[in-house]
Amino acid sequence: MISPYILIIDYGSQLTQLVARRVRDLGFYSEVISFTVVEKHSSINLKSTKLSLIRGIILSGGPNTVGENTSPCLEDSLLRLNVPILGICYGMQILADKLGGTVSYGKNREFGKALIRARGHSKLFRGIQDYTNDEGHGLMEVWMSHGDSVTKLPPGFKLIASSSDCEVAAIGNEEKNFYGLQFHPEASHTKKGSVILERFCKEVCNCEQSWNMKNYASLQIKKIKNEVGSDKVLLGLSGGVDSAVVAKILDEAVGSQLICIFVDTGLLRMNEASDVMSVFSGRLKGIVKKIDASKLFFNALKGITDPEEKRKIVGKLFIEIFEKEACNFGDVKWLAQGTIYPDVVESAGNIGSVAKKIKSHHNVGGLPDRLSLKLLEPLRDLFKDEVRRLGTTLGLEHQLVFRHPFPGPGLSIRILGEVTEERVNLLQHADQILINLLKNTAVDEKDIAQGLTSSVNLGRSWYDSTSQAFVVFLPVKSVGVQGDNRTYQWTIAVRVVETNDFMTANIARLPFTLVENISSEIINKVENINRVVFDISNKPPATIEWE
Ligand code: XMP
Repeated sequence: MISPYILIIDYGSQLTQLVARRVRDLGFYSEVISFTVVEKHSSINLKSTKLSLIRGIILSGGPNTVGENTSPCLEDSLLRLNVPILGICYGMQILADKLGGTVSYGKNREFGKALIRARGHSKLFRGIQDYTNDEGHGLMEVWMSHGDSVTKLPPGFKLIASSSDCEVAAIGNEEKNFYGLQFHPEASHTKKGSVILERFCKEVCNCEQSWNMKNYASLQIKKIKNEVGSDKVLLGLSGGVDSAVVAKILDEAVGSQLICIFVDTGLLRMNEASDVMSVFSGRLKGIVKKIDASKLFFNALKGITDPEEKRKIVGKLFIEIFEKEACNFGDVKWLAQGTIYPDVVESAGNIGSVAKKIKSHHNVGGLPDRLSLKLLEPLRDLFKDEVRRLGTTLGLEHQLVFRHPFPGPGLSIRILGEVTEERVNLLQHADQILINLLKNTAVDEKDIAQGLTSSVNLGRSWYDSTSQAFVVFLPVKSVGVQGDNRTYQWTIAVRVVETNDFMTANIARLPFTLVENISSEIINKVENINRVVFDISNKPPATIEWE
């Protein structure tokens, strides 16, 4: 922990990380810990958590019902900190329950948008409203998602908002600075949600608004310097923004003690290996070394079709290569990785995490239980767009910072079924065609008029106007006709998405002529492909990668 902050306790809501995002975007540092961690330590004297720097606590929502045997309660240790508390949804219900109120099961269910009326002139809502009704009461559009509700207020609390379906939409004990919201201020549908969170953090908690990427960079550099001392650090460089930002931070923190290893797995984009080497060679004070390991990867993946198995194999090989290199260089004690927050969440790799594992992101899931190197993961708490802001703050070029992400397991998880050199070659070719067409086609006024993309993208390439684009090899053969001949060949799926944080994503709405050009150029130029399909699935329920 580095500066005064807001502690967020996660009770298992899908939206907890979004609360952390909103709070950080407002300039307040926030940290999320699971309620299980607080439960384990009766006095939350966690090593990483400096109690004196906590300025306020936010209790997240969660899937449980207050009062059931396995449902988490509000821990006494949190109340003993004597700082303001804001409970959201389930967080409000356990706050009310703990302090003597009543929560009723299944009363007043609400899912979706609701209109609440502020009451009682609270410090939390004063002057915050979307509309005023005929009687002059402030009204706010909010997002509700609850089955249970508070039906009796705890002593000392007053009602500060209600809706037509939920009498107790928000409560407050203004003397103690304890508040509860039945709605979700973190959801974008709650229009004034960020204003309410800012009011809580700034005026109720008096927390400093000092969180920005410049501070984050200098604190990380200082922290790494202290931790690492004169040891050597090995970094797996992939050429993507995450490892590039880590390289830059480490370059400043440990200079010539840094050894960057770029592993050519044979599962990269076309010309990726030479492009990455030309960007980084000679740019860092330390060493940048390329290892050609494609044979190793192809052999290990032979006959493997299960996505999780592929991920584990690739992750394990990476680690074996890094460990071997660490031995060769001697004295290497640290392995640095560009792990970012979504990797941690979706691999269920957070300490005490109650989230379900979606897939083993190779930075996290492939690590052996007994790694002989200590881990440095300076981006572990950041979302992708925060990493990009950090990269820009550190002076990395636009082209590097705004590259579409490429997953660690590379094309192995974009080839459904067995990974073979032939399929990789074919996919590299199709990928190059897609990326070049997106880079060479600009968003025009017609696209904006049709609502395909935002007007800020006018004149930008479709590559820069979307978040991630790639092709997937489908081991599905279908019949086609080329010239006068029947063909029976493979299928390529094209996936282009828009997202801010890669935790959720929408399909990009490309102009149809561009979609047609992509399809015909791939079919015409890539051998053994006679069909291109366009993936129109959002995340959730699909994930961005197919495996
Ligand atoms: P999913 O498929 O989980 O992808 O929706 C979210 C983002 O993460 C990238 N991704 C990975 N990145 N190692 C990485 O470094 C991995 O194992 C990995 N798997 C997925 C994916 O490309 C998308 O940007």
